[in-house]
Amino acid sequence: MESGISRENRLKIYFAPMEGITDGILRQTHHRIFGGIDVYGLPFHKLTQTLSLLTREERDLAPEENEGLCVLPQALTRDPEQLSAWLYYVSECGYACADLNLGCPSPTVTKRGRGSGMLREPDALRQFLDRVFANTLPVSLSVKTRIGYEDPGEWPELLDLLSAYPFSHMTIHVRTTREQYTGGIHPEAFTLAVRKHVQHPVYNGDLRTVEDIRRLQESCPETEAVMIGRGLLADPALARRVRGGASAGRDELQAWYMALYEGWADKFHPTIALGRIKKLMEWPAGEDIRRKRLLRRADTIEACIDAMLDA
Ligand SMILES: Cc1cc2nc3c(=O)[nH]c(=O)nc-3n(C[C@H](O)[C@H](O)[C@H](O)COP(=O)(O)O)c2cc1C
Repeated sequence: MESGISRENRLKIYFAPMEGITDGILRQTHHRIFGGIDVYGLPFHKLTQTLSLLTREERDLAPEENEGLCVLPQALTRDPEQLSAWLYYVSECGYACADLNLGCPSPTVTKRGRGSGMLREPDALRQFLDRVFANTLPVSLSVKTRIGYEDPGEWPELLDLLSAYPFSHMTIHVRTTREQYTGGIHPEAFTLAVRKHVQHPVYNGDLRTVEDIRRLQESCPETEAVMIGRGLLADPALARRVRGGASAGRDELQAWYMALYEGWADKFHPTIALGRIKKLMEWPAGEDIRRKRLLRRADTIEACIDAMLDA
């Protein structure tokens, strides 16, 4: 152990990008109340020919939206020119790093050969990356990938392919595209990346508790970074707890839900905000049928919070 710093304190923790959930309001609220996160991933920007970004994508990059946070913008594209233009835009907005999405398993994305659809065509992926890295990039580029399209057996070759490029780090969601979000996970795929000395590998997939993270560190002591998504929705204090901090207090959770609701009601509409809160609360509610029923019936933010904290 170096200078009294525990492994948990040195572990870098990314908040996973989750489209439709981890917007600026959630990121800022999370940082203010719970903290413990080193980098917040921004949900993907779906690049187009015209390079016009959606309002939510532009807002995501606005410096005031991310004040005080370290964030990682992300692109979804299979076009090197689109990516290059977007990287310059990201750089002009003041960011130093950006991420390439090779992990999205949604059929509407993969059937166009984007996201994890690119993993199905290694030759096309290689040509794409050759062109991406042919010129000096204005920001450093990382990649977020799955371990194959159909089968985890694709990973060793895919890993060799991706490792040939100077990505600043590689986030590995240890599932195939076919496995979507709930199929089996393959932690050994991450260990292989560590053993092959991939530049800064980041483990991602089903880290829900402090124990899950400890177990990962025990099985792979070289783990230097993890990305957590749904685990942080279920327990927003998870990253803080990993670093030895306190569990989420009742007042904190109340403040968390209320701030999210008020932020979303202001940004969208109270009805939409309530819908989003209910969706988010499904994660901490887990398999608690009674809580879920109360939540379904709740028609105010107060009733939702009561369902979560008092039921
Ligand atoms: C609703 C939802 C939206 C997501 N959106 C994105 C996204 O925009 N970009 C991305 O790279 N991954 C996205 N993901 C995948 C997560 O970042 C993460 O890789 C995945 O949930 C596995 O991590 P976890 O088990 O810690 O949640 C999304 C996942 C969910 C559930």
